[in-house]
Amino acid sequence: MSKRIIDSVGKRQSSVTQLKLAVLISGGGTNLQALIDACAGTDFPAGISLVISNQENAGGLMRADKAEIPTRVIRHLDFTDRDAFDDALTAALEAANVELICLAGFMRILGRAFIEHWQDRLINIHPALLPAFKGLHTHRHALEAGVRIAGCTVHYVRAEVDVGPIIAQAAVAVLPGDTEESLGQRVLKQEHRLYPLAVELIARGHVRIEGGNAKLESDWAGEDVTLINPLPAPEK
Ligand code: GRF
Repeated sequence: MSKRIIDSVGKRQSSVTQLKLAVLISGGGTNLQALIDACAGTDFPAGISLVISNQENAGGLMRADKAEIPTRVIRHLDFTDRDAFDDALTAALEAANVELICLAGFMRILGRAFIEHWQDRLINIHPALLPAFKGLHTHRHALEAGVRIAGCTVHYVRAEVDVGPIIAQAAVAVLPGDTEESLGQRVLKQEHRLYPLAVELIARGHVRIEGGNAKLESDWAGEDVTLINPLPAPEK
């Protein structure tokens, strides 16, 4: 699947096997940036071959340009139906020999045929601890529900929205006085750590899907790693 590449002179020299990624965006692309930065690291086992946006003014396109990553704008408005749009995406992805698609703030619902075509090669980052708070406005819903711990999830995509085998999650404490914005910022910071981690786990072959769940073959956090909110009073 992957091929061994050596970067051209003047760029990062790497001899690790790199998984070919595509990142699909619709907006500012801070998660795209986190992936770009991770891929620039020596021996990161993946590289971005293509960035696709359905919005021509997505800020993330400039991030890709700056990193000299090929971009494509495929506007959903230019297609008569969802399948035609999805087919155009697949054609672009296959032309770039993409092995793993990372949805990063891509604001289009993909059709069943596309998702099945790319089954287990299509992942998404969602700003909540799935299966809680699917859909939009996750931080508002988390605050309304009064949860003490929020977070984000990277998961394989299935036909149902925000459902699919969970690869990795990061949790943050909800603080008194948190607003959608403050909580969102704190979660987003963790998204930027989590997405590269999930990609790395996949690229290194540490993730397999079994019985509808993703199983990891790498180190776990360990039973002592916990986030308790509020903090228990110190022992006297
Ligand atoms: C992130 O919160 C991501 O979890 C969600 O869309 C947002 C995209 O943000 N799917 P950015 O464009 O990566 O900054």
